[in-house]
Amino acid sequence: MCGIVGYTGPKQAYPIVLKGLKRLEYRGYDSSGVALMNDGKLSVYKKKGKVAELEDYMIGKDVSAHIGIGHTRWATHGEPSDRNAHPHTSANGRFAMIHNGIIENYAQIKNELTNKGYSFTSDTDTEVLLNFIENIQQHNDCSLEEALRIALKRVTGAYCILLVDSEDPETIIAARKGSPLVIGVGKGEHFLASDASPIIEYTKEVVYVNDYELAIVKPNELILKNLGNEKITPFITKLDMELAAIEKGGYDHFMLKEIFEQPSTIFDCLRGRLDAVSGTITMAGIDQHIEQLKAANRILIIACGTSWHAALVAEYVIEELCRIPVEVEYASEFRYRNPIVNKGDVIIAISQSGETADTLVALEKAKENGAFIFGVVNAVGSSIARISHAGAYTHAGPEIGVASTKAFTGQLAVLTMMALSIAIQKGSITQERYQQLLTELQDVPEKVDAILKNADELKVIAEVYKDASDFLFLGRGYNFPIALEGALKLKEISYIHAEGYPAAEMKHGPIALVDENLPVVFIATKDSYHEKIISNMQEIKARKGKIISIITEGDEVSPGLSNHVFSIPPADELIAPILSVIPLQLLSYYTGVLKGIDVDKPRNLAKSVTVE
Ligand code: G6P
Repeated sequence: MCGIVGYTGPKQAYPIVLKGLKRLEYRGYDSSGVALMNDGKLSVYKKKGKVAELEDYMIGKDVSAHIGIGHTRWATHGEPSDRNAHPHTSANGRFAMIHNGIIENYAQIKNELTNKGYSFTSDTDTEVLLNFIENIQQHNDCSLEEALRIALKRVTGAYCILLVDSEDPETIIAARKGSPLVIGVGKGEHFLASDASPIIEYTKEVVYVNDYELAIVKPNELILKNLGNEKITPFITKLDMELAAIEKGGYDHFMLKEIFEQPSTIFDCLRGRLDAVSGTITMAGIDQHIEQLKAANRILIIACGTSWHAALVAEYVIEELCRIPVEVEYASEFRYRNPIVNKGDVIIAISQSGETADTLVALEKAKENGAFIFGVVNAVGSSIARISHAGAYTHAGPEIGVASTKAFTGQLAVLTMMALSIAIQKGSITQERYQQLLTELQDVPEKVDAILKNADELKVIAEVYKDASDFLFLGRGYNFPIALEGALKLKEISYIHAEGYPAAEMKHGPIALVDENLPVVFIATKDSYHEKIISNMQEIKARKGKIISIITEGDEVSPGLSNHVFSIPPADELIAPILSVIPLQLLSYYTGVLKGIDVDKPRNLAKSVTVE
């Protein structure tokens, strides 16, 4: 949450910072701002709204500077407004700072500062931290770096901060704990950002800063230290990402691009791992830990949002194939109760961004208790990937649209391969079933491609129901989590209230909502529950609900009960969720667009939730 970017070097900083903010806007977009330093003159500009509004506001301003920091905000402390936007300036005007995270003990520090005569121009925890630093610097007459180090020892919470000092015209000081920071190393220049997307255009050499590290960044020098003032050798990583991957490539929205990329992202996820001809799955993270995975007494899956829905699908798949009990936990709940984690339990963490604060902290807690952590992560080099003992990347490429699409199908592909690997080595499935599922999985990209060819059919359905006030999504078995995901997607992108339910459980409550105005989406592909879900359709039809069914090609019964159908290619029930979710992504996308919503940046949401 919140995107931060910085530049120090010979080029003009403003265009680099502005472009970086646009790339990071998925992290928050309620206000944005920049601090530019030119010959020791510090200028701060900030504006409520999206980065485009800041850009308009900056027209005609003097933006020449070789050092700059910028921020795009997702509000925590204080409503979105010009005055709460970052950067903040210290009381004496000497320092400017941007911050991603939350300072939990800000109220206490604010009190102390107020007693010392400080007053505040914003409602933010960031301004409090900045003035705390300023106060320490003045009191100790020390360097900014030293003051920051002292301040951070008193602070609880999460942060990634960038600081500039008008008395030090070429240095950016950065620090992180719990919120990501990447530093791009160029020739005589450095770039700082929340992720690599603002950096990739200029350099592929990056340093991922770790928690409790401080970076002193000048054009020709990068010094990393810990909070004890000891130097740390920066570890340079080469980015494996192309600029095209973070651009829209001719699509109207990133979300649509990402939906349409799925045949290739799923293919990339399977490539080099699954070989149906030789009947093998090769995944280093799994192969190296197979004994531990096979012997697991229990698997606990921890995630949030869409990743949590992938976890629910995995629960069904792993229990069926591996016969290992699986429990799925919301990370935010897991971290605050006193969960029982026993020796022999395996924890799978699922995260697109690899930075979700609740998931990260839940894992840290489980790790302290001795649990083995397996990460299923999309963002390479992210915090969750780094704290996991082992893992497998989903290889979906950068996902920019706030609503997760291609990362979800990547997660399902990885988790299914994982379950198959464990199952065959454990002997809990037959060679024949294993081989059949390998072939089915290998065929998924082609089937997704076939679904996408009929995308316009969903546009027609979206047109009919775009003004509905509620939606119900129903599925059974492997498709129950897909019903939840369909409802979440619609809520996120169209602001229509939607609920996902197990189709049979619907009788215990949601059926009261059904009337001739309620669209009910059935995920009713041909599986072992099909006859049962047909009965559930009858129940809705009898109450005059409008039925939209996602069915398997060749199903002759469902169309007679439905107002609209969308057919997908036949697939084994275990594989079907990777296909049945695609029409639901498209239905949400088209509904959102028809309602005039900015689907890549729906209100109040952020892609990477780095606050709890
Ligand atoms: C946010 C995003 C969702 C995402 C969730 C979990 O709410 O808007 O799309 O599913 O965070 O994020 P993660 O990066 O951990 O998968």
